[in-house]
Amino acid sequence: MEKLLIRGGRPLRGTVAISGAKNSAVALLPASILAESEVVLDNLPHLSDVAVYCELLEELGASVQWTGDTIRIDPSALRSKPMPNGKVKLLRASYYLMGALLGRFGEATIGLPGGCNFEPRPIDQHIKGFEALGATVRNDHGSVHISAKKLKGAKIYLDVASVGATINIMLAASRAEGATIIENAAKEPEIIDVATLLNAMGVKIKGAGTETIRIEGVESLHGCRHSIIPDRIQAGTYMIAAAATGGDVLIDNIIPKHLEAVTAKLREMGVNVEEFDESIRIVGAPEYSAVDVKALAYPGFATDLQSPMTSLLTQAKGVSLLSDYVYSNRFKHVPELMRMGANIRVEGRTAIIEGGRLNAAKVRAADLRAGASLVVAGLAVEDGVTEVSGVEFIDRGYDNLVDNLRLLGAEVWRDSD
Ligand code: EPU
Repeated sequence: MEKLLIRGGRPLRGTVAISGAKNSAVALLPASILAESEVVLDNLPHLSDVAVYCELLEELGASVQWTGDTIRIDPSALRSKPMPNGKVKLLRASYYLMGALLGRFGEATIGLPGGCNFEPRPIDQHIKGFEALGATVRNDHGSVHISAKKLKGAKIYLDVASVGATINIMLAASRAEGATIIENAAKEPEIIDVATLLNAMGVKIKGAGTETIRIEGVESLHGCRHSIIPDRIQAGTYMIAAAATGGDVLIDNIIPKHLEAVTAKLREMGVNVEEFDESIRIVGAPEYSAVDVKALAYPGFATDLQSPMTSLLTQAKGVSLLSDYVYSNRFKHVPELMRMGANIRVEGRTAIIEGGRLNAAKVRAADLRAGASLVVAGLAVEDGVTEVSGVEFIDRGYDNLVDNLRLLGAEVWRDSD
């Protein structure tokens, strides 16, 4: 098992270019199998989750060629086959194979997804959507079996504005007869990215990015070329890390609008944030004010950034309240930060963080964003080497992290246990 070692006390300085978005990539890859011919995706991030997804598509019979940041997927020979176990269990986003295979072949058998299990993450809204489109859904020994003779467009109101359910329904509805309307749809940028790809493949989708999405299904989808949007969570993590180290970093190749909630919160703390067309510059300050943060669905402050933000708030003067209204108990990073000397108490869905000094320690990442939080904390420590184990989680979502941080002047290296 590998661990990350981080010698703190070095302000990050320089430019970091952000890769394509993980949470788009893991939806666009399964979306591509709805096509009858080759789909080319550019700006693909180099992440373990993406690599596992490619293997899943190959298992289903797709031809996959990944060179540099570009991937070519030819799904013409692909068949639906049951995938109850194996790699589907490694990823949360394997649930998108349900919508994609249902759309293309009228059936799918997929083991219940794995991934970052920081709390139970139900998929009832995905299932409700498939059923509304006319599918029969059966839970069979830990696998979901979905089948439909014919999918028919329907009006679906989501009880929660779920990213996964919105995308999964869009995938299946792309091949349904007639129009599907999703009400209370999630509005995350990754949903617009998936809609852009599906539209380029011949589907007619309107309203992606708003709470009402209309999908007009088509009989067949064709191949196309598409560039994946930048990863707003990686970008936000570097913004936070730059501030936590009192650094000066240009975060490049991003869509600044996707980061407005982070930008606003950092400014409120006293961080200097300059926005450009495709980049944001963060200049740290000697002292930060405590702030209250509420993690919400987009365009609110992203839940995926609340863990790294917790680490930054340990560096603010006074008491900050950080509440997560997307997940009620996503606080696995907190006991680890406390090992590093952080003064944090969790009450319900709120972390109460009193600013103070962090010390180097041996800590363990229990999930992807908890790992990011510990990396930020390790960089912010004034002196000493922090050891972060559980690196395999971090590799799921941060492209080239060690090299990027080194280019920014951090002293970070990998070692094995
Ligand atoms: N929910 C339900 N029922 C459902 C689906 C969701 O109750 O059928 C609840 C969840 O329990 C949660 C809320 O709705 O409380 C939102 O969950 P959502 O479905 O939006 O999350 P997801 O699609 O499973 C994606 C990202 C997560 C990110 C969330 C929220 C992917 C593969 N994952 O998950 O990313 O936290 O949206 O933005 O896109 C990460 O990257 O570290 C990560 C966990």
